[in-house]
Amino acid sequence: MKDKKDNTYIWWKHGVIYHLYIRSFFDSNNDGIGDLNGVTEKLDYLKELGVDAIWLSPFFKSPQVDFGYDVSNYIKIHPEYGTIDDFKTLIKEAHKRGIRIIIDMILNHTSNQHDWFVESRSSKDNPKRDWYIWQKSDKKNPPNNWRTPFGKKAWEYDKNTNEYYFHSFFKEQPDLNWRNPNVEKALFQDIRYWLDLGVDGLRLDVINLIVKDKKLRDNPSFLNQIIKPDEVYSRDRPTSIKIIKSLRQLLDTYENRMCVGEIYALPPGNSKLVAKYMDKGDNALNMAFDFSLIFARWSANKYRKVLTTGYQNIPIKGWPCTVLSNHDLNRNKAKPLFANHAKVAKLKALLSMTLYGTPFIYYGEEIGMKNVKVPYNKLKDRIGKMYWPFYTGRDKSRTPLHWNSSAHAGFSNNMPWLPVDREYKKYNIDQQSSDKNSILNAYRELIRIRKTYKVFNKGRWSLVSSASKHILAYERKRKDKQLIILLNFSRLPKQTHQYKDYHILFSTSRDNNQSHKSLKLAGLEGVILSKDKLI
Ligand code: NOJ
Repeated sequence: MKDKKDNTYIWWKHGVIYHLYIRSFFDSNNDGIGDLNGVTEKLDYLKELGVDAIWLSPFFKSPQVDFGYDVSNYIKIHPEYGTIDDFKTLIKEAHKRGIRIIIDMILNHTSNQHDWFVESRSSKDNPKRDWYIWQKSDKKNPPNNWRTPFGKKAWEYDKNTNEYYFHSFFKEQPDLNWRNPNVEKALFQDIRYWLDLGVDGLRLDVINLIVKDKKLRDNPSFLNQIIKPDEVYSRDRPTSIKIIKSLRQLLDTYENRMCVGEIYALPPGNSKLVAKYMDKGDNALNMAFDFSLIFARWSANKYRKVLTTGYQNIPIKGWPCTVLSNHDLNRNKAKPLFANHAKVAKLKALLSMTLYGTPFIYYGEEIGMKNVKVPYNKLKDRIGKMYWPFYTGRDKSRTPLHWNSSAHAGFSNNMPWLPVDREYKKYNIDQQSSDKNSILNAYRELIRIRKTYKVFNKGRWSLVSSASKHILAYERKRKDKQLIILLNFSRLPKQTHQYKDYHILFSTSRDNNQSHKSLKLAGLEGVILSKDKLI
């Protein structure tokens, strides 16, 4: 796919990326499960929303123990999602509309059903034995104290060869041994397959976990880990960055491709660690997810700090991105603000569309989808069942998208794989499309504004003084163009400074283009101010 005439245009820096959880987006064949053809059918909706690329959750062949994050063949399509021809159609149709495709590559582990693991497990002298992390130890004592968030044990004893294998996640997801160069060769070959088909980018799953300590040393003691988890030997080993750099070199042999990495950190939101994986900014990850904002307390001050620290850590040639929810973490969870859900959702839209860096929208965020309470007997995520009722798992943020008010929210004609939010008739795409004050229309308008004003892409971001501690105030500035963004985090109205000669270019709760003498923000209102009227 060719870029626009402007040769400074870089799609993943200028664009807005939509994170699409394929299982819950749209079901084209009415089996209750979203699929590739469902995405193709809805491309015009995404085009109208204004997105430039979609990141598809994994659709490779998989036993679905971890809903696609357990891959048994990287170049085959899981039948529930369609066929390779469906994928080719999707790419063709997406590109026709100027929408790029990013796929999710899981390099840290495979499924235990992958041929590589089946071979590796078969005997100690199998040529693929060393493709995974095998270790001897006696039956009662695993080789070391490494842990997994997905259960009790991270080492699984295999009776067949009387050795343990390591898994960072479920036992059906054995970790690959990236110290063996054949692993890199095989996976890079599979990646090339997709790049040759025209895939534009890769989202790299838990990419900082891929290399483990050579000697498999114990992580600092258990007690220590509870206080401050310090998994120094099971993640973030120096060799990971070397592998990421060679993957970047591979990507750079193609035109206009990119990779964005998920950096797994405990506790989440370590922007310094995240930035490390971009290295100089032009030789490793193009972008890396920083989850700090997802975990930030709802306060202007907290957001101020998180944003400033995040930007300070970005390498000079690096590029940030903004993410507010995803398929593992909660959707909008500002509890004290539940009654003001729509206002908060619009405020967050304003934030992500005016920050410095590429915005990611998690499907449904554009209509303010909420966490859904999934009863125990309908849970699909195994960790939800495992830790119920203390932790109910990730299903709550993976429920079907609300297209309209018909049965099953228009997602499918059949019972969906996860229950639909009971409130779907109150808020869905159809209904919000025709409401000019809806969250959806706020997204559409903000994306349009972001694209119209180059300052959002190229301009610098800096905090400006604010008349109230509840108002997050920043500017985007480039040459003589300046926009001021004010977000009132309080439920109460707040007076701002005098912004003489400025117009309200956009507001989350009043008509655009108003001029004003003295500006008082309503509770949870956000605005973009400009000296010119809206283009
Ligand atoms: C991170 C993914 O986002 C999550 O869904 C998955 O379970 C783990 N990595 C393991 O692949």
